[in-house]
Amino acid sequence: MSSEYTSNATTAGVNYTVSSLSERPDLTDEHQTTGGSAWPEFMIHDPVAIANWDKMMSYFAGDQLSMLVEGQIAAVINMVPIRVETDLIQLPDRGVDWGVEKSVEDHENSTPPNAMMGLQVVIGKNFRGQRLSEIATQEMIVHARKRNCDFVLLPVRPNGKHAYPLIPMDQYINWERADGQPFDNWLRIHKRLGGKTIKVCHQSMIIPGTIAEWESWTGQKFPGSGQYIVPFALNPIDIDVDQNTGRYVEPNVWVAHRTG
Ligand SMILES: CC(C)(COP(=O)(O)OP(=O)(O)OC[C@H]1O[C@@H](n2cnc3c(N)ncnc32)[C@H](O)[C@@H]1OP(=O)(O)O)[C@@H](O)C(=O)NCCC(=O)NCCS
Repeated sequence: MSSEYTSNATTAGVNYTVSSLSERPDLTDEHQTTGGSAWPEFMIHDPVAIANWDKMMSYFAGDQLSMLVEGQIAAVINMVPIRVETDLIQLPDRGVDWGVEKSVEDHENSTPPNAMMGLQVVIGKNFRGQRLSEIATQEMIVHARKRNCDFVLLPVRPNGKHAYPLIPMDQYINWERADGQPFDNWLRIHKRLGGKTIKVCHQSMIIPGTIAEWESWTGQKFPGSGQYIVPFALNPIDIDVDQNTGRYVEPNVWVAHRTG
């Protein structure tokens, strides 16, 4: 398990330390506030994540990292250990939900992990635009190496996709800038650090709710059945007035970094 250490962030010229919540339990509130601050309300209503969150935080406190700059949390990195088939094309069409359940099952069955799965990287709002996302990603790889894992696996949420909710993810991930690099900022960072895009996981998270819940989560009205564009959702959500349901299926992208 990692111990606290200091690294020199050469790409950004920033001095930082990395601590896990098992080393710095006093950071738990700030860590969770920073981690939660990045997401629209509906994203925190994934039933699989809710059902497993406390277990993950307790079993894997050593894998919940805070990057500290001058004593403040600049970035939050949440990871869980899992055992995966090394033929990564076999990864499921589920992503976050699958990995969350599997990490808890593997731990409870004493199955040794060979991968650290990244759940989220969040750069604190005051620290964005300083290229810390690249350093945070490198720290995930460093941590997985310390845990003797062969891979960092991520169901990546491309951070620009919400602006293109009508474009299928399989198409979006192939968009490139003029320089041939991925159009999406976050996919570009992973590629630059050697990450390999495996495939889209179309059902990474499934968020169901009643229409009243969706209206309170989004501040929108859903007067009739159909598909609706909701700010910061990567795809439209499905509303069924007769069934009183709203359902969002979030697609993510499996990306793998080898640690060796
Ligand atoms: C996605 C995230 C981690 C990126 O971190 P960041 O501090 O905003 O971005 P960085 O300074 O590290 O830059 C990363 C890339 O984005 C680009 N970028 C940063 N801010 C940008 C902006 N406002 N507009 C356009 N591009 C921008 C940078 O140019 C850089 O690309 P380049 O190196 O090819 O030039 C951060 O915005 C974040 O925490 N977002 C909320 C949570 C999230 O979406 N996490 C990822 C999924 S789990």
